[in-house]
Amino acid sequence: MSTLITIREASLNGNGGDYSPAKEKAANRGVYGARSPLLHRRLRLLVGGAKYKLILLFFLVTAAYLLSSKISPFMGWNPHYPSSVSSPSRGGYTVLINTWKRNTLLKQSVAHYASCQGTDAIHVVWSEVDPPSYKLRDYLKKMVQKKSQTAHKPNLRFDLNEEDNLNNRFKPIQDLRTDAIFSVDDDVIVPCRTLDFAFTVWQTAPLTMVGFVPRMHWLDEEKNDVVHYRYGGWWSVWWMGTYSMVLSKAAFFHKKYLELYTKKMPSSIHDYVSRERNCEDIAMSLLVANATGAPPIWVKGKIYEIGSSGISSLKDHSDKRNKCLNDFVSLYGAMPLASTNAKAVDARYEWFW
Ligand SMILES: *[C@@H]1O[C@H](CO)[C@@H](O)[C@H](O)[C@H]1NC(C)=O
Repeated sequence: MSTLITIREASLNGNGGDYSPAKEKAANRGVYGARSPLLHRRLRLLVGGAKYKLILLFFLVTAAYLLSSKISPFMGWNPHYPSSVSSPSRGGYTVLINTWKRNTLLKQSVAHYASCQGTDAIHVVWSEVDPPSYKLRDYLKKMVQKKSQTAHKPNLRFDLNEEDNLNNRFKPIQDLRTDAIFSVDDDVIVPCRTLDFAFTVWQTAPLTMVGFVPRMHWLDEEKNDVVHYRYGGWWSVWWMGTYSMVLSKAAFFHKKYLELYTKKMPSSIHDYVSRERNCEDIAMSLLVANATGAPPIWVKGKIYEIGSSGISSLKDHSDKRNKCLNDFVSLYGAMPLASTNAKAVDARYEWFW
């Protein structure tokens, strides 16, 4: 403390002694400037010579890294450049948006996905007696034209269903130009960079489901040869670091699973989904797991839910999910889900290995 005061006095004296705001400022600056040597000395006292050098080295390396990541674009090498991996020449994806009576959200999500480089087409699954109004269609068409970044403007199509049925979201689509489907709820926004990265992960495993919302199952109890499973939500995955499903509210999968879901999956599961208005996502996870015998892939990335928060926090919801899981598994005859701890991350942003 005494050092600070002396320095301040000295600098005031050095300026002739008479007060002015500008001089006061300059003097203050002097004080802050003087703080770092003090800190320096205290740190040295605290940690001793060798360790101090180590810490200093760490800061230097960090500073050098930060500097180089700022400079590198000027040196012709830019790690943040949207890389060739997501260029349309390697094929894009079809965004399949499931919506229900939430036109404001639909407008936002169509505008967003139209702006992503990899989007080849946008399909809106519409499940209402009244078709979308001319005004809404026109608005969305114009929005897609405006937001698209590529020469090829994504096709916007409505897949009309009069009946409100959750199985609608997995109906096969005619004239698809891509193998990849990105299935998403109308209130979920995945930033384009994150989405394009997940697409490259899917390209390495096109028969696997690749998504952002992991869920798990575990063996709960075994009574008289009857096996009972539990469905684990966000907290369970966070706690255990294990998952066996990714939800279709934000996931890539191959278009062939639309056929399989609609035409090959046992119709008792369709009936269950339409009766309970729930669990189409669990049904899809089981279907893909049964077809591949492998776990899905969870991709690291922040996603945004723009609607009001969903039903998933209610106790009733978790009971329903448990029941679906067990009923579906008994229809399969055995548990098709496989668990994993792997998580895909973008190496460009994971420099601290
Ligand atoms: C699960 O996969 C097997 C082998 O591919 C297939 O024969 C069976 O029909 C599938 N089960 C269901 C319920 O889809």
